[in-house]
Amino acid sequence: MPSELPSVTLPSGTAVPSLGLGTWHMGEDRRRFADEVAALKLGLDLGMTLVDTAEMYASGGAEEVVREAIAGRRDEVFLVSKVLPSNASRTGTVRACEASLKRLGTEHIDLYLLHWRGSYRLAETVEAFEALRAEGKIGHWGVSNFDVPDMAELAGVPRGGNVQANQVLYNLDARGIDFDLQPALGKAAVPIMAYSPVGQGDLARHAGLAAIGKRIGATAAQVALAWTLRHPHVIAIPKAVRPEHVRDNRAAADLTLSQDDLAEIDRLFPPPRRRVPLEMI
Ligand SMILES: NC(=O)c1ccc[n+]([C@@H]2O[C@H](COP(=O)([O-])OP(=O)(O)OC[C@H]3O[C@@H](n4cnc5c(N)ncnc54)[C@H](OP(=O)(O)O)[C@@H]3O)[C@@H](O)[C@H]2O)c1
Repeated sequence: MPSELPSVTLPSGTAVPSLGLGTWHMGEDRRRFADEVAALKLGLDLGMTLVDTAEMYASGGAEEVVREAIAGRRDEVFLVSKVLPSNASRTGTVRACEASLKRLGTEHIDLYLLHWRGSYRLAETVEAFEALRAEGKIGHWGVSNFDVPDMAELAGVPRGGNVQANQVLYNLDARGIDFDLQPALGKAAVPIMAYSPVGQGDLARHAGLAAIGKRIGATAAQVALAWTLRHPHVIAIPKAVRPEHVRDNRAAADLTLSQDDLAEIDRLFPPPRRRVPLEMI
């Protein structure tokens, strides 16, 4: 029986598991629906009870996969979804959230994120988030793909300080945020949700990571995940449909990398020496 997952505490004081379940590309093909639901259910059974989805994924199809997976166990789950920037006006955000709630078959989303910055003023989106929160339709709100200047701008918006997380690309192949955004969010105690933590599968096939893994009894993917989880303010949200991947990912939370392992990883994937604008996919 694996130990309980470590948790990350949001600024609100709510604790969430440091390892969650991604859902991008789920819901795109009806023939894979049952396998995708089963993968999410397995992840929940193993304690990965944070589920990350978005209205964008399969145009709502991923939220429908999530609906099926969480049916009858909504209370176990910390549910994250996202509004598209093109919907993120004062009224559009509320409409988009209500549509997501319907697809998800729930009365509230635990954490609702602005997927990336668009043309609507941040103040407008934040006002909508706060209204949704007051109505109980969302528990918390946050952002995604926000770089250091975006976070600074958000801090200047009325109630912008209520941000609970920033979901960004963070993995060994994309570690530019280690220069500034990552430590800045750590200092501000705003959790990072690391997306594509397995490099969309590429890091699972990396020979150098596989060699480190072999030495410590882990897979390359587990080494990559354990690396993102080395910070107490990082939540990783790998997406996996294959059950062996789901189990592998869960076990990565029990892996601690030594200083020697981390130094070897830095040789393979050198840390940034100067500011790198936030990458996104
Ligand atoms: N906010 C944003 O803009 C944004 C952008 C991208 C992603 N995201 C979120 O972050 C989640 C994760 O990112 P991602 O889906 O791009 O990439 P990822 O989680 O890094 O990689 C997913 C791929 O890796 C494979 N995989 C997972 N665990 C593995 C393991 N233990 N061993 C070998 N292969 C493994 C999966 O295979 P199988 O599925 O076949 O098991 C899948 O092909 C997304 O699903 C989404 O929820 C957010």
